[in-house]
Amino acid sequence: MSVWDELNQIRTQVMEELGHVHDSQALDKLRVSVLGKKGRMTGLLRGMSSVPPEQRPELGKLINQAAEALERAIYERVRELTAIETGDRLAREEVDVTMPGKPVKLGGIHPVSITASLLTDIFVSMGFEVVEGPEIELDHYNFELLNMPRNHPARDAQDTFYIDENIVLRTHTSPVQARAMLRGKPPIRIVCPGRVYRVDEVDATHTPVFHQMEGLLVDEGIAMSDLKGTLDLFARRLFGEGVTTRFRPAFFPFTEPSAEVDLTCVACKGVGGGCRVCKGTGWIEVLGAGMVNPKVLDMCGINSARYSGFAFGMGIDRLTNLKYGITDGRYEFENDLRFLRQFGG
Ligand code: DAH
Repeated sequence: MSVWDELNQIRTQVMEELGHVHDSQALDKLRVSVLGKKGRMTGLLRGMSSVPPEQRPELGKLINQAAEALERAIYERVRELTAIETGDRLAREEVDVTMPGKPVKLGGIHPVSITASLLTDIFVSMGFEVVEGPEIELDHYNFELLNMPRNHPARDAQDTFYIDENIVLRTHTSPVQARAMLRGKPPIRIVCPGRVYRVDEVDATHTPVFHQMEGLLVDEGIAMSDLKGTLDLFARRLFGEGVTTRFRPAFFPFTEPSAEVDLTCVACKGVGGGCRVCKGTGWIEVLGAGMVNPKVLDMCGINSARYSGFAFGMGIDRLTNLKYGITDGRYEFENDLRFLRQFGG
């Protein structure tokens, strides 16, 4: 076959094959077999030596023109195939923008944390500062500086987790008072929310871990009436107008005088009667308080001849239960989502 015939044959064959190629991989193979280094067109150019020299320029031109034409045809086909393949892929991967989205589940704030921030907000608005202390505490701060030396009977009321002879899991937030007094000078106005620990069997009103918030105010001329006024305002802010406090004499080694403080029952509004929350008394006990014992002031480096102060400690879990009408304190520690979701999130 002459080189001219071969050239025509290649051209017709390739044009025909192009019509049958339906994917870009096969098309690429075809391109290489025609135009590649070892392709048929290149082969033709090499075969020129068998052609008489005077015909070579003319033939060379023809071959190059044909090669260009084929290249254009192949490129055209590449574009067609790519368009088709892209269209197919888009159709396959089509997104239905009207489909409902997958909901993102957000966590919520735990009710005890909600109450804790409510409580701190109230005291911050009165000028108190929020501070924290360690949960693993020295016996010295948890007891000694609070006027409870070793063998003091008041220690028995707080069944303590001892880590060793001198280190405990704090049984109350009161050690933060001692730390605050040792650190700063009056006026001192702090509240300290946090976890506390006591050896207790779990029941509806006891858990070995629970939460307290301590308050301490030390300055010149602080009196019991300041304590009463502060707690009355706190009670109204937390539970609404009409809620007030009642002080009953009590004993704590770190305050003198000391009081157990009741609030008007939030369930029956103080009516009592058959109320289950206050057992008919119209009052609910929520905190301990008193005037900081001068001995404690002195041990913590505050001159009790010049300064006086009040302190209080309240159970955050108990206030949470009262606020939300929760009847069993264990819910707060069981992480049951059905319970937790009721508080948002
Ligand atoms: N720390 C006491 C307790 O856990 C509560 C308490 C009572 C704190 C009187 C005080 C206070 O600051 O003045 O039972």
